Amino acid sequence: MEAILIGFMGSGKTTVGQLLAQRLQTAHADLDDLIVQAAGRPITQIFAEHGEPYFRGLEQQTLRQAMRGAGVLSTGGGTPTVAANATILTHSPIPVIWLQASDATILKRVTGDTQRPLVNELKVDELLALKHRRERLYAAAADLIMPTDALTPVKIVQAITDWL
Ligand code: S3P
Repeated sequence: MEAILIGFMGSGKTTVGQLLAQRLQTAHADLDDLIVQAAGRPITQIFAEHGEPYFRGLEQQTLRQAMRGAGVLSTGGGTPTVAANATILTHSPIPVIWLQASDATILKRVTGDTQRPLVNELKVDELLALKHRRERLYAAAADLIMPTDALTPVKIVQAITDWL
């Protein structure tokens, strides 16, 4: 695996991950998609039927499998919140890149998104509080902190490949 992208919901992990993989001429995997495939149901349904802890268990298993593969991996916004995941991300030799985005950018991107259970459940101030709590975890797991607010996906990929 060549790179792992982390960051809050709406930080651009999937968009940038796909573009980065293209640029590196390698495969792209999205952890949420792998979980959906394995579970045979959408994330909203996994949360609704089994709850978040069950989802986190699937996520943890799927992360381990995905990290054995090649290419670029886009994680879910909550992946580094599981201590075991944070540990493997921190200690893995694979470069971990945090796509950092401001509160305003995130809100603009995720507000009204019905496919993200936490966006459905939480009020705006709660969602931002979650973002702020998680930022410490992203920072701890990251080898590169990539501020994204002022950059297009193409420029972000350029900056990442320059660093890699
Ligand atoms: C989550 C983020 C989602 C998905 C799930 C939980 C989170 O991924 O894994 O809805 O806890 O932040 P994205 O960051 O790709 O939206």
